[in-house]
Amino acid sequence: MDGKIVGVTGNLITAQTDGAVVLNSVAYCCRSDGARLMAEIIRIRGSELDLQIFEDARGLKIGDTIEFSGELIQVTLGPGLLGRIYDGLQNPLPELAEKIGTHLKEGNYLPALDERVMWSFTPVVEPDAVLTAGEKLGSVPEGIFDHAIMIPFGLAGDWTVKKIAPAGEYTIADEIAVIQSRDGEERSVSMTQKWPVKIPLNVSIRRLLPTEPLTTKVRIIDTMFPIVRGGTMCIPGPFGAGKTVLQHIISRHAEVDVVIVAACGERAGEVVELLKEFPELIDPRTGKSLMERTIIICNTSSMPVAAREASVYTAVTLGEYYRQMGLDVMLLADSTSRWAQALRELSGRLEEIPGEEAFPAYLNSRIANFYERAGLLLLKDGKKGSITIAGTVSPAGGNFEEPVTQGTLKVVGAFHGLSRARSDARRYPAIDPLDSWSTYPGIMDTESVEELRAYLREGNEIKQMMAVVGEEGTSVEDFVTMLKAEFFDAVYLQQNAFDEVDAATTAERQQLVFMTILDLVRMELEVESKDEVRDTMVRASELFRNWNYQAQDSEHFRKTQDEIKEFITRKGVAL
Ligand SMILES: Nc1ncnc2c1ncn2[C@@H]1O[C@H](COP(=O)(O)OP(=O)(O)O)[C@@H](O)[C@H]1O
Ligand SMILES: [Mg+2]
Repeated sequence: MDGKIVGVTGNLITAQTDGAVVLNSVAYCCRSDGARLMAEIIRIRGSELDLQIFEDARGLKIGDTIEFSGELIQVTLGPGLLGRIYDGLQNPLPELAEKIGTHLKEGNYLPALDERVMWSFTPVVEPDAVLTAGEKLGSVPEGIFDHAIMIPFGLAGDWTVKKIAPAGEYTIADEIAVIQSRDGEERSVSMTQKWPVKIPLNVSIRRLLPTEPLTTKVRIIDTMFPIVRGGTMCIPGPFGAGKTVLQHIISRHAEVDVVIVAACGERAGEVVELLKEFPELIDPRTGKSLMERTIIICNTSSMPVAAREASVYTAVTLGEYYRQMGLDVMLLADSTSRWAQALRELSGRLEEIPGEEAFPAYLNSRIANFYERAGLLLLKDGKKGSITIAGTVSPAGGNFEEPVTQGTLKVVGAFHGLSRARSDARRYPAIDPLDSWSTYPGIMDTESVEELRAYLREGNEIKQMMAVVGEEGTSVEDFVTMLKAEFFDAVYLQQNAFDEVDAATTAERQQLVFMTILDLVRMELEVESKDEVRDTMVRASELFRNWNYQAQDSEHFRKTQDEIKEFITRKGVAL
């Protein structure tokens, strides 16, 4: 059963068919020169269909044939995903890093995984073992992990292992097992399987409530607005406020196994930059390239809108696959605004009734569905696996009152709002300490954090007042409060992403430094004049900054710590 093209408008194809077709399934538009262009069925009205073509519709004409695959958009899973760079439809983009604009020839899709590579497989089950979907048949080493080869996720019920390959070298296409269902159906299993990207991949005993703090080593996040393994966070910020740098630093230092980056470029240039920079990032865990445990899904505004729309789903599905192996995955989507724009474009072409700012009415539910795919699972083998999703939003003009930011804030567990004022003052990371929030438990006791946050709020008010009445009009007491707040900001909340030691602060060190700061802030300073206050706080800031730039186990670190202790006893009396 085929269809016929009856209309072409940009990337939207209208077609006619008399058979049954599946919504969101893949179809191929057959061009007269023989090229088969991939498309997704996005609307069905009786015998009329709308299809979104994944590449250029050029050359297609009325009357051209459409073939229906009946399959949803799916990704290929298996060893060899780590280190790869794909587009939104999992076409590998090896050349893109060097040469943007090298378009794959239309109608040519490259396999996502190399079928020639040999992997060293070790079985973990014997014949006659009875297993269910997602349970392990064996494993192959991939990078620093054991890549689990599992019973295909879509299979229902019990399956008996009839044959299992002995330890040895196999390609992903080779048969490594034969399994049989209760009704006698036999299946050949290889190291690769497929999964539709829009259906959450979750084969587990149950979902667990995520409560275990996930250290990112970014102090303002871990101390004030923590995230958890399996949680979600939103980083909105205007252009240039530091979203991408923050995501890089989190990918490097967060305590996770696999990093998945969905790079939805605001401009093609940004994606090229990421493709150049990312492979240069060194993994602090191995000393080798971070790419060895990263997958990048990239996507620029010059790519077809359907590929852009699919990219975040492809990214999260790959993440879910590694979660099934009991690994902790961090998914960074930068920026989700570009994805939402793709939704808007698609909806506009379908002439759907637009909602706020011309986004489709279902924008919020799409955002919610995406973030809901984060989570912590208790797997069948008793292990836990997680995906944490961090999405940036780039609202025009940094105005957070827009639909994408608002839709995201309704569903995430933490909000790290970047402020233009802070990034202009080069106070990085520019996360606003007064507006941001988190609903998750962290590594610090909340009362102490609230105590310092109150200082920040008060200090901010005094600073604003001082801008009007001047320093003379400010009392010594207020002046002290303001400088203490500034001190906390300068030596703790600000963190230099480009300094080797300062860039990453372990949870243990955060606790130590934070409590020392609390000691200092709680002191009543023995000072008479504002000048004396200033001198004292300047000296304190110098000492603490110094401390930040020193490795915790170094001799310098302990020496500076002693200096700080002495300074505190000398300068203050405990309240
Ligand atoms: N944490 C940080 N430490 C030091 N510099 C930073 C930090 N974050 C951002 N910057 C500076 O700001 C610039 C813009 O940051 P970027 O992440 O590209 O912004 P965005 O992605 O929000 O447009 C960076 O090139 C860098 O110079
Ligand atoms: Mg950016």
